[in-house]
Amino acid sequence: MKLIIINGPNLNLLGKREPEIYGSKTFADFFEELKSKFNNIDLSYFQSNIEGEIIDKLHEVGFEYDGIILNAAAYTHTSVGIGDAVKGITTPVVELHISNVHAREDFRHHSFIAPAAKGVLFGFGLKGYELAIQSFI
Ligand code: DQA
Repeated sequence: MKLIIINGPNLNLLGKREPEIYGSKTFADFFEELKSKFNNIDLSYFQSNIEGEIIDKLHEVGFEYDGIILNAAAYTHTSVGIGDAVKGITTPVVELHISNVHAREDFRHHSFIAPAAKGVLFGFGLKGYELAIQSFI
């Protein structure tokens, strides 16, 4: 099974960024843990702070991979383009957020991705990525 995690803007700062919300572990360290936990899965990781690069990656993997775990971060709430890309591909997408976006500011309550997602996971911290992988298994 071929899965990819796509993280959006500012998630390269995990471990340093607002640790009270996002935790103190870097994604690089966490990704190593994930790979050893799910060592029978072909799991890859892509992060970009650039909207168009996220769209390009969705196009690249979105007709071939078995699943995409997408944390589009702030673009979730603003990007018609990423929402359209998720609608345009055939690989199922699980939308994910580390924090409970519904317990935060109103602008985080709307997602352009959710209507086209297979499912949405939020509020479980980094553990959410494991739950998302399990949802594809
Ligand atoms: C986030 C939630 C978004 O609202 C925010 O802009 C992020 C991270 C999360 O994982 O909790 O950057 O997607």
